[in-house]
Amino acid sequence: MKIVKTIKEVRDQVREWRKEGLSVGLVPTMGYLHEGHESLILKAVKDNDRVVVSDFVNPMQFGPTEDLATYPRDLDHDARLVENAGADLIFNPEPEEMYLDDFSSFVDMSTLTGGLCGKTRPIHFRGVCTVVSKLFNIVTPDRAYFGEKDAQQLAVIKHMVSDLSYGIEIVGCPIIREADGLAKSSRNTYLSEEERKAALVLSKSLFEEKKKIEEGLKDVKTIVSDIRTNIEKEPLAKIDYVEVVSWPDLKAKETVDGQVLCAIAVYIGKTRLIDNFIL
Ligand code: PAF
Repeated sequence: MKIVKTIKEVRDQVREWRKEGLSVGLVPTMGYLHEGHESLILKAVKDNDRVVVSDFVNPMQFGPTEDLATYPRDLDHDARLVENAGADLIFNPEPEEMYLDDFSSFVDMSTLTGGLCGKTRPIHFRGVCTVVSKLFNIVTPDRAYFGEKDAQQLAVIKHMVSDLSYGIEIVGCPIIREADGLAKSSRNTYLSEEERKAALVLSKSLFEEKKKIEEGLKDVKTIVSDIRTNIEKEPLAKIDYVEVVSWPDLKAKETVDGQVLCAIAVYIGKTRLIDNFIL
């Protein structure tokens, strides 16, 4: 397993693989890898001859008051996890490698990005789409892997790939959870012991509501209000949003019919966590 820092090194390596007729998978990450990322890498290793993992905390997707400076980083740990999972290359560029001083081209989307996380993170998806487009152009993968925990991101990337005719298969992978239900996230490391316990309110309220929907509950107002009431019982939690929308086109719904995404974002102390289920 190799770690490279430059676009040229990735391109040279991928060119070699292509000469041998090998398929290439890409797992885009911001590093500080956990079992959620590991599951994406393992799936990519299974599906492709060679796998590239990008490990880049992308400044463009963080708002001015967000956690870019404190976002956890540990390349040695990431390298061990990637190697053990069987991937072949880590691309770990510096921001200057990805964004030259006069960088001025962006990939923006006029649908899907305004609601849910886009409401409180207005520039987030422009940053995600731009960096993912660059990674696609650098690695030219056959397939790319994204977690369903960031369900809106997955829908956005799938739409972008179709709009811009990338010809890359986008593979969504299920949410990986701690034993007690908390969705794995690099941001869980921000939580104090007390906050870690409080954070369980996200998955618990979702699981409870999912069961009610499976038993026949269809009214979206009732579903949203049940989840809000449950979360509000936790003093350390502050709701950003609770929404039920159609999947994967993220349109407002009044009743549950067809595929829906039930997504929530909740601040536990200062840490903003997201979770969801697709039904
Ligand atoms: O999901 C993430 O970690 C990031 O948004 C991604 C897709 C790696 C782009 O920076």
